[in-house]
Order: sequence, then structure tokens, then C-alpha cells
Amino acid sequence: MFKLLQIFTVAFFIAVANSQGPPGPEFFWDIWCTRNFVVEPATDSFPLWYDIIPDPIFNTFSPGEAIRVTLRPNLPDFEFTGFLIRAHTQSDMSAVGQWIGIGDAQGMSCTNENFVGDDYASQSVPNMRTFQDLIWTAPSTPGNYVFNLTTVETFMSYWVDQLSPVIRVV
Ligand SMILES: *[C@@H]1O[C@H](CO)[C@@H](O)[C@H](O)[C@H]1NC(C)=O
Repeated sequence: MFKLLQIFTVAFFIAVANSQGPPGPEFFWDIWCTRNFVVEPATDSFPLWYDIIPDPIFNTFSPGEAIRVTLRPNLPDFEFTGFLIRAHTQSDMSAVGQWIGIGDAQGMSCTNENFVGDDYASQSVPNMRTFQDLIWTAPSTPGNYVFNLTTVETFMSYWVDQLSPVIRVV
């Protein structure tokens, strides 16, 4: 609860300073996409892990298959307010596939100036959450892909570059 208060307090004062009213989701997406955080990312172990269904062992899927990706905490009491995820190949950083967010999350895009799109997913509201369910539709092009995750606990505490196991689309 304190962390939620903290993130809203920071957001509130920045919004008031800009005289634009309470921040919409774009306020946070802009920070996540540009990595314009106020502190350096945490370098201790990642607080979340990827639960990938329906093939959590071999992570082998068909082109266009809908895959459930759940971000789950490694520690039972960890909660996070925000995240940013996308998929790319191991050599090309371009976002591939399409995301649907479940609950307080949605597909969006860091490559569109109005964040319109679904090649990334992020929070729709910065509520504390203990897990996050997402659906990723694999691209039609077979290949090896990885998810690349930013996890935001608060503005002062976040992790970047958390890759998933290799997702094989064959
Ligand atoms: C994850 O995505 C970021 C942002 O685009 C990129 O700079 C970084 O290289 C990626 N990390 C890895 C390990 O591929």
C-alpha cells in the first residue's frame, strides 16, 4: 500500500507540475519505453518468472498459436505496479507477435508515438499486482524467440532485460 501511495505521489506531483491532471497510462508507458527511470535498474535477481502454457517444458509452438504467459513472483510477498514485455529474436530486437493483456494490462506499442499497437504489453493502470496474465500470439514466421521483460515495483525499483527461455515456433 505504501508503494502504491509512493508511485501515485510521484506521478501526482509531476502531473500537477505539468498542469495536465492525473496521469493516463501513456505517462507510465513513455517512461517504460524510453527507460527514463529516475534511478539505475536493480541488478539483484529477477523478482518474477515466466509461466508459459501450453508447453512449459519444451516451449515449442505453432505459427500463430495463442500462448498464455503468466508473470509470477519468485517470492510470495512480491508485488509489482508495472511491466513492459515484448518478444524478439535473439539477433533482431524488433518486436514480433501480438499481445493481449488480462485484467489491468493491455497490448500497446513502444514504436508508435501514441502507443497504438499490440507488439508490446504493459499495465493499463499502475495497480499493485501479485501476478500478471497475458496472451501472446506467436508470429507466422517460424523461428526462435525470447520475451524481454521490464518489471516495475515502484519508480525507484525496477529490473530490465529479463529474457524468457527460448520460444520455438515451428
Ligand atoms: C531487451 O530490450 C531492450 C529494450 O529494447 C534492449 O535494449 C535489450 O538489449 C534487450 N535485452 C536483451 C538481453 O536482449
